[in-house]
Amino acid sequence: MLYRLARPLLFRLPAETAHTLTLRALALSPLGGRAAPEPALAQRVAGIVFPNPVGLAPGFDKNAQVPDALFGLGFGSVEIGTVTPRPQAGNARPRLFRLIEDEAVINRMGFNNDGAEVVGRRLTQRLGRPGILGVNIGANKDSPDRVADYAEMTRITAPLATYLTVNISSPNTPGLRALQDESALGDLLDAVIAARGPHKTPIFLKLAPDLQTSDIDAICRIALDKRLDALIVTNTTITRPAGLRSPLAAETGGLSGKPLAPMALDMLRAFRSATGGAIPLIGVGGIASAEDAWQRICAGASLIQLYSAMVFHGPKLAQNIVTGLARRVRAAGMTSIAEAVGTQ
Ligand SMILES: Cc1cc2nc3c(=O)[nH]c(=O)nc-3n(C[C@H](O)[C@H](O)[C@H](O)COP(=O)(O)O)c2cc1C
Repeated sequence: MLYRLARPLLFRLPAETAHTLTLRALALSPLGGRAAPEPALAQRVAGIVFPNPVGLAPGFDKNAQVPDALFGLGFGSVEIGTVTPRPQAGNARPRLFRLIEDEAVINRMGFNNDGAEVVGRRLTQRLGRPGILGVNIGANKDSPDRVADYAEMTRITAPLATYLTVNISSPNTPGLRALQDESALGDLLDAVIAARGPHKTPIFLKLAPDLQTSDIDAICRIALDKRLDALIVTNTTITRPAGLRSPLAAETGGLSGKPLAPMALDMLRAFRSATGGAIPLIGVGGIASAEDAWQRICAGASLIQLYSAMVFHGPKLAQNIVTGLARRVRAAGMTSIAEAVGTQ
């Protein structure tokens, strides 16, 4: 109800101001605890039991300010970050745009975050509380050694996270996506795996939707070779699909939301076929309904994540998708959502 009243006001404010206010409201809300259990939706990935497959994608709670309130909205997992070793201001504002006509977002935030020390302290304070909490790690823009940044982030956050995501797919840190190249990726993952130490925290890798087929094959080879725990497909796109209607479509940055969905689905299918199901996939990009989530799961995703659709559909979205997925599992005559993964 509160959201229905606040929504018109939030849409009149600049996008980043609306986002900051939403985080404040969540910090004050009594929400907390964990997602309501839906036994048919529990999924085991990388040895972690996710209570449901609907996760919050990183970028919403970059600094781990409100993870427990987000679990209270029904998310089965929350990925915080991207966090870099040193705090970073990010790009100049405005850097976040709502493309209302397209149900899309463009951002060029540039890894604005509080840095490993502050975020690490917040994570330490909530250790022991329930909830699958992923930490998405990155490199500082001005770092002379980006691989060393990922290794440092791994060392600091591996004991504090349920899983880590190596993010080499943000379009807003110049040169970062080059780490997806075959030669660079192997070295990066070796450094991260070595830095994990005795904590066998699972490692996921997050990829861009703008990859060529040859890149996909190489990434899958390396991911299997290094025994990565999951691939997250996809981050935002630097392309602008035909048919965007908003005048803000020309803004520089990564596009997410509805227009990303067909690309992200194609990428997921490509990764599924390149891995043959040998490594779990997490589908992200333009998911806005239980139908979208089900389609992604049938195309090979063990889990899904979303962010942009919550901007347009509000805080009940995660719970609605969970309820809709449970209905679909039953309608398909299945006892577990695991049976649906990769069926189409
Ligand atoms: C404002 C904003 C900030 C984001 N920041 C990050 C980030 O820091 N790290 C990251 O891996 N992805 C980031 N993302 C990408 C999302 O996690 C997700 O991969 C992408 O938006 C596609 O999903 P969606 O269409 O459901 O939003 C960001 C997205 C948005 C809209």
